[in-house]
Amino acid sequence: MSKRILVTGATGTVGSELARLLVTAGCDIRAATRSPEKAERLFRSEVDVVELDYRRASTFDAAVDGAEGIFLQAPPFDPDARETLVPLLDWAVQAGVGNVVMMTAMGVEVRDDLPIRRLEKHVESLGVAFTLLRPNFHMQHFAGGFLGERIRRTGAFSMPVGDARVSIVDGCDVAEVAAACLLSDEHDGKEFTLTGPEALTHQEIAETISGVIDAPVAYESVSDEEMLARLTSTGWRPEIAGVVIALYQSVRGGVRAPVTGDVAQVLGRAPAAFSDFAARNTDSWLSVVGQNP
Ligand SMILES: NC(=O)c1ccc[n+]([C@@H]2O[C@H](COP(=O)([O-])OP(=O)(O)OC[C@H]3O[C@@H](n4cnc5c(N)ncnc54)[C@H](OP(=O)(O)O)[C@@H]3O)[C@@H](O)[C@H]2O)c1
Repeated sequence: MSKRILVTGATGTVGSELARLLVTAGCDIRAATRSPEKAERLFRSEVDVVELDYRRASTFDAAVDGAEGIFLQAPPFDPDARETLVPLLDWAVQAGVGNVVMMTAMGVEVRDDLPIRRLEKHVESLGVAFTLLRPNFHMQHFAGGFLGERIRRTGAFSMPVGDARVSIVDGCDVAEVAAACLLSDEHDGKEFTLTGPEALTHQEIAETISGVIDAPVAYESVSDEEMLARLTSTGWRPEIAGVVIALYQSVRGGVRAPVTGDVAQVLGRAPAAFSDFAARNTDSWLSVVGQNP
């Protein structure tokens, strides 16, 4: 019988790729989202979709029904990640889920003060098999989300990180690692810090994008205050924007620079480089061509 797995955040970067990988591997997937129509458009009829909102317990039963494993991720930049996810986690374990693969973030293991680290500790205490995946920033930020959108519109992007290096990782590699952890018990109890193969500055990232589209893409380093003002002026709630700024401070502190061998350890191959990612995603930035002659 095929393994039933609940994939949370299934409309997101890692969740959508993971759902497809697990379906291909023959699993019985429930792709969880707050917006089933959005997920049905994304997956067509390839994947079964279920409504799930971490903040509405009335959606938990249908989502966890019959699931043996769960891929779990907090909403992006959630300042209350522990409070958001513990109710669903406890519900799932009570309902018989025996394997939790959770995606948090690189470096949280040394930050016991963070809600996301306290969430990891809760997972460790549940008494079920678990694996913790701690990725660096996903390369997909530069093609989607607010950064990708900014590059497409203006041919430039700003961040408060100076020339700090970041070992960004391809979200597709993160999804492949998550699939491996859900499909085998070989990785139970382990923690993986998932990075790309090299640590790049944002200037190097801009130059790589520029190279694949053959048009200028500019990177500008700004202050925390400037970045905060830009985020809040475009509708970001101050407490969420504050989480983003704290992340950038950790980048400046060098926390996101180390390169690990964890992707290769699980997948038996090197992680994708940003140049591979950029070559695969050229279409994301084509609107820049001709903007800044
Ligand atoms: N992005 C990165 O570079 C990165 C790096 C390391 C770690 N992480 C971690 O990965 C997690 C996801 O971040 P991301 O940027 O990858 O996000 P993403 O691709 O935008 O996906 C976020 C997903 O979360 C779901 N979601 C949001 N609020 C929800 C709620 N209340 N109930 C149920 N589902 C909800 C969304 O589903 P619907 O909108 O369809 O409901 C969406 O599919 C975060 O915990 C983040 O800290 C991200």
